[in-house]
Amino acid sequence: MNNFIDYNNQRFHFLWLRDHCPCSDCRHPSGQRILETWQLDADIKVESYEITETGLEIRWAGPQQHLSHFSAQYLLANSYDKPQIPTENIHTWGAELTGNLPSYDYNQVIARDDVKGQWLDAVTKYGIALLKNVPTEPGTILQVVDLFGYVRNTNYGELFEVISVEQAVNLAFTPIPLSLHTDNPYRNPVPTLQLLHCLEKADRGGVTALTDGFRAAEILREQNPQAFNLLSTQAVTFRFSSADAILEHTACMIELSANGEISAIRVNSRSLAPLNLPFDMMQSFYAAYQELTAIIQGSACKVTLTLDRGELILFDNQRVLHGREEQAVGPRHLQGCYADRDGLRSTAALINKRQQS
Ligand code: OGA
Ligand code: ZN
Ligand code: ZN
Repeated sequence: MNNFIDYNNQRFHFLWLRDHCPCSDCRHPSGQRILETWQLDADIKVESYEITETGLEIRWAGPQQHLSHFSAQYLLANSYDKPQIPTENIHTWGAELTGNLPSYDYNQVIARDDVKGQWLDAVTKYGIALLKNVPTEPGTILQVVDLFGYVRNTNYGELFEVISVEQAVNLAFTPIPLSLHTDNPYRNPVPTLQLLHCLEKADRGGVTALTDGFRAAEILREQNPQAFNLLSTQAVTFRFSSADAILEHTACMIELSANGEISAIRVNSRSLAPLNLPFDMMQSFYAAYQELTAIIQGSACKVTLTLDRGELILFDNQRVLHGREEQAVGPRHLQGCYADRDGLRSTAALINKRQQS
């Protein structure tokens, strides 16, 4: 006897169906599961079932004669008997995005739910979006975060000033160029979003460079699978230490999800702790690391732009690398802050839902 029901050419296991029973004994009105999956009989049997106009009705075998009714809509939305396609709508990019970054007007974003939704969806899809005409009043960056989520406070404060200072604790706070990097890989969890808001633009230099790390890693996987394999299996340590923080995290430069997709990039030469891989691996690891960073800095991947006053970039810090090219000449002032994807995705999903109703 089968252990599944075929509903519209989609097979559902008995166990899955029993586990997802929507009746009020099995689910709380909030939608959260009450029944305990561990207590279910893994070989549960069906006494009888009927495919009705509205869905599927099941009478379960056993003394309790439990009844389950599934709507057609629920089964359709949750069917799993098909090739699994990635659910995330991600579009990787290279230098062709120069002058073409997804770009939105701050005033439209605050006035219109649909434009705000497009702005947030662009961050999910491309890993970055540019916002123009943001007021240059210091601290406005926190109001921008309020539009979609929550500030991630760190030892750098709720927001940090990217301005050249004496005795900088971090190269970011000097006029020195910064090679393309992701921020704070020495933190766990790492802030998944970063914002940089330009309040004052340098007379010269201080150009922003951006690379889609997912694209760069894809290129490495194509051109040198062994190098890709090293960087996605050998962990390295990132470290930061100042008077008020000692931070350290060990992880791979290229992180893969359980199904082998590139899920995070960590590259930051400033904060890479001394490498201590097995002796026989060191030389080839360096070669792999250099090959990846050459792709990242290379002209096929890199987009450059000079942020104007009132421009703000919001980007995925586990995907898009940012850097600063050429020594900044003259005063330059950015404010930066961190936030996380969960808030952004939630706000985008709520907007989506409002728009569909
Ligand atoms: C940073 C940083 C870039 C810039 O502060 O993390 O990378 O353009 N700044 O100053
Ligand atoms: Zn039930
Ligand atoms: Zn940075």
